[in-house]
Amino acid sequence: MPQSKKLRAGVIGLRMGRAHVQAYRQHPRIELAAICDVDPKRLEEVKSAYEVPLSFVDAGEMFRRAKLDLVSVCTPNAWHAPLTVAALRAGIHTLCTKPMATRCQDARRMIRAAERSRKTLMIGFQLPMTRMASAIRKMIDSGRLGKVYFVHAVYLRNHCELGPGFFSRKNAGGGPLIDLGVHLIDFTLWLLGDPRVTRVLGSTYDHLMRQSGEGRDVEDLARTHLRLAGGATLQIEVSFMMHRPPGETRCVSLYGTEGSVSFDPWGTEAIYCSPRLKNSPKTIPLPQESRGQDVSVNHFVKCLLKGKKPVASPARGYRVLQILETAYRSARAERELPLPKSRV
Ligand SMILES: NC(=O)c1ccc[n+]([C@@H]2O[C@H](COP(=O)([O-])OP(=O)(O)OC[C@H]3O[C@@H](n4cnc5c(N)ncnc54)[C@H](O)[C@@H]3O)[C@@H](O)[C@H]2O)c1
Repeated sequence: MPQSKKLRAGVIGLRMGRAHVQAYRQHPRIELAAICDVDPKRLEEVKSAYEVPLSFVDAGEMFRRAKLDLVSVCTPNAWHAPLTVAALRAGIHTLCTKPMATRCQDARRMIRAAERSRKTLMIGFQLPMTRMASAIRKMIDSGRLGKVYFVHAVYLRNHCELGPGFFSRKNAGGGPLIDLGVHLIDFTLWLLGDPRVTRVLGSTYDHLMRQSGEGRDVEDLARTHLRLAGGATLQIEVSFMMHRPPGETRCVSLYGTEGSVSFDPWGTEAIYCSPRLKNSPKTIPLPQESRGQDVSVNHFVKCLLKGKKPVASPARGYRVLQILETAYRSARAERELPLPKSRV
């Protein structure tokens, strides 16, 4: 790709997607050519705030008219698959935010569309692309924790302000497990070097969700236990609402035979414990950097310019979705289930 040529980018869905708009606007190799949202008021507001030349209420029209090289799909979950498939079929490289889709069968269609179009498809799992992730991974690989045998990851909210689509299974595919759990599952498996997941036990609860409003049919709390090849286990707890102190708790803890490390993946420090330190914990500063949408956008553009494959590949997105589907099935069946063999 010639050094001077700018790539033409578009963004669909302009709530969280505003962060993609901002990141593209700041990128020296990108021309933010077009935006799309079904809400004309939001569309107009973002168009004038960021001086975007073209705006559309219909994504298909944007794909036909805006001559895009790449696009970010930042709509509610149920729209990820249809818009991504349409973008790839129109020959446009696509960054689809997480979760990849609401069902594995839709994710498979997305993968096939990417293969047929020979365009890049990336999923918006930004955590493994950060320096924070490299620092923790280095610690694990150096043996400071010994053999890691248990991982505990939580993202618990007592209450959350989200668009109504997040509380409908039809729009979102599920509740906090598909919204928050996706990040934790992808990130912790990446930290462990992507071991095979053998069995999944899921439990979901919806007592508070049902009390909170009409038409809300997702879980409010989910607990997922994964058995990994090699014997380690991974426990994830995520909630949208719970009777607990205000605010949210985010923490990933990895326990090994020689020590442990605990940290907030969006935070500034990690706590290392080891008998070598006579069990007095040591605080380790984590790199100060963004862990937001600009990380995904910059990685995506870099991969396109250098012809590289993104870390957050469609295969990763599909694997997480397979785990989520199995966890939801396990919760309904009230027993542990094997993870089906991958059938992309
Ligand atoms: N990677 C991350 O860390 C991260 C962070 C936040 C949100 N997300 C994901 O981003 C997505 C959007 O989240 P949000 O909070 O902005 O949701 P939201 O429901 O609040 O807003 C979605 C926006 O998309 C628009 N929209 C809906 N359907 C559309 C369509 N068919 N075509 C064009 N526009 C459409 C809506 O009008 C709205 O402006 C979700 O999938 C969420 O999981 C990812």
